[in-house]
Formats: sequence, C-alpha cells, structure tokens
Amino acid sequence: MPRRGQDLLGPGSGTPVVIDLWLVDLQAGEAETQRLSGICSREEREKAATFLHSADSRRTLVCRGRLREILAHYVGAPPNGLTIGVGRRGKPFLAEPGSIKCRNRQPFFNVSHCGEKAAIAISLQQDVGVDIEMPRHVEPEIATLYFAAAEVEALSRLSGAAWRLGFFRCWTRKEAFLKLLGCGLARTLDSFSVPIDADGEALSVSCGAASASRWRLQSFEDGTGLIGAVCVESGARPVVVRRYFA
Ligand SMILES: CC(C)(COP(=O)(O)OP(=O)(O)OC[C@H]1O[C@@H](n2cnc3c(N)ncnc32)[C@H](O)[C@@H]1OP(=O)(O)O)[C@@H](O)C(=O)NCCC(=O)NCCS
Repeated sequence: MPRRGQDLLGPGSGTPVVIDLWLVDLQAGEAETQRLSGICSREEREKAATFLHSADSRRTLVCRGRLREILAHYVGAPPNGLTIGVGRRGKPFLAEPGSIKCRNRQPFFNVSHCGEKAAIAISLQQDVGVDIEMPRHVEPEIATLYFAAAEVEALSRLSGAAWRLGFFRCWTRKEAFLKLLGCGLARTLDSFSVPIDADGEALSVSCGAASASRWRLQSFEDGTGLIGAVCVESGARPVVVRRYFA
C-alpha cells in the first residue's frame, strides 16, 4: 500500500483507535475511468450518468471505484462484489456480510470530496466521519449564521488569512462530527461546538454535559492547501491516523 506522511497520534490511554485516511486523486484518463466504472454497481453508474458535466460523472465514478478497491483490500473480496448500502439519512456503509468479513458494517468508512480530491477514512474499530475543504473567500456572516457562540467568539479574534483558516478548520471539524453521526442536518450546527485552534491533536466536541471527551477530532492537510478533519468516538483512547495516497 502506498503509505506516506507521518502518523498523527492524539493523546489518551489504552488501545488506540486506528483510522486509515486515504487521500485520493480523482483525476483519471478515459481508460482508467472506464476500468473503475466497470467496478461500480449499475446504480452507481446510473447516478454518475445523471450529472450534466462529464467531469462530475468522471469524479463520481473514480471516487466510488477507488472506494470499492480500497474497501476490497480490507475485506479480501473483489471490489465489484461489495454491496454499499445507504443509511436512513444517506450515510453509506458496507452491507451484506455473506461470505466476506464485513460484520456489523465493518470496516467503517466515510467519504468526502472537494474538486479533484477525495478523502476516505476507514476504521476497523469505530465508525468515522471525514470532511475536506479548500479554504476560499467566505463572508463572515456565514460563521455568525451557522456556528455556535463559542466558535464565533473564537473566530472574532482572527482576521485575514488566519480567519479563513480558522473558519475552515471549524467547518471541517463540525462537518466531520456530523458525518460520523450520519445525521446530516438533523442536528443543528450551533447545538455543538469544536475548537478552532491549530492544535489538531487534542480536540474534543462539546455537545451536552457528558460529552467532553467522548469524540475526538483530528485535523489534517494534504500539502496543497486542502484541509480536513476526521472524527471518531474514542472515549479516553488515543487516535492514530495513518495516511495513504491513492
Ligand atoms: C451530505 C453531507 C453528508 C455532506 O455533504 P458535503 O459536505 O456537501 O459533501 P462531502 O463531499 O463532504 O460528503 C459527501 C459524501 O458523504 C457521504 N454521505 C452522504 N450522506 C451522509 C450522511 N448523512 N452522513 C455521513 N456521510 C454521508 C457520501 O459518501 C457522500 O459522497 P457520495 O455521495 O459520493 O458517496 C451532509 O452532512 C450535509 O448536507 N451537510 C451539511 C452541509 C453544511 O451545511 N455543513 C455545515 C458544516 S459547519
């Protein structure tokens, strides 16, 4: 497996929760796109065909094809033999235990895409959430509208590029948490808060009295400006994020 970059290790004690973070390049020529399309299910190909722009279709097929190849590696089954189900609010999961090793929806995974990049987070132990974004201009009102009071207050101490980075750290961390829960926007964005500082190693989500150290967040960058966050429910256990490129 092409594994690069240092593992990110968070604090805690006990057996670590390991997250494999796959950073995926969605650019592909016609032949490779066709090959990956052949791995996808009929429904996945039909969904890709609904896009107006061929680039969107290609990204969808490449992302799903690579996801299947990566999951196949974990379960030891052919990529086109996997069944990917969808939860009540849209979160995909590995279905159909059958003869392959995907008991209780394991391995757990979550996907995020942004332009020509995708991130796939995988864990054999705990369900995961991931989000990636490319920082860009944002009107400050967006933070006031969507973020929790503590996050807005922390952002108000920043300006310029530092504000933008803080905004997207906050955004990706919040989104990774929501994607872990799989609830979409059923939970309001100001009902929980995340830290916005640069320290990506000791972050927890504040969400109700008992939650102080229940969920862990780990931010990451890919070296091209893209930033992201993964979230897992690890309790007091440390989280190790191992990075791979595909
Ligand atoms: C759809 C949603 C999961 C995120 O979408 P997004 O950020 O636009 O897109 P991403 O690329 O990060 O994620 C899309 C992927 O998440 C996965 N996904 C879809 N529904 C999901 C859910 N309920 N939970 C977790 N993952 C989900 C899918 O794999 C999807 O990709 P696919 O359709 O190609 O398989 C959902 O959380 C949402 O609508 N979020 C609200 C957006 C928002 O206002 N965020 C504010 C954050 S501060």
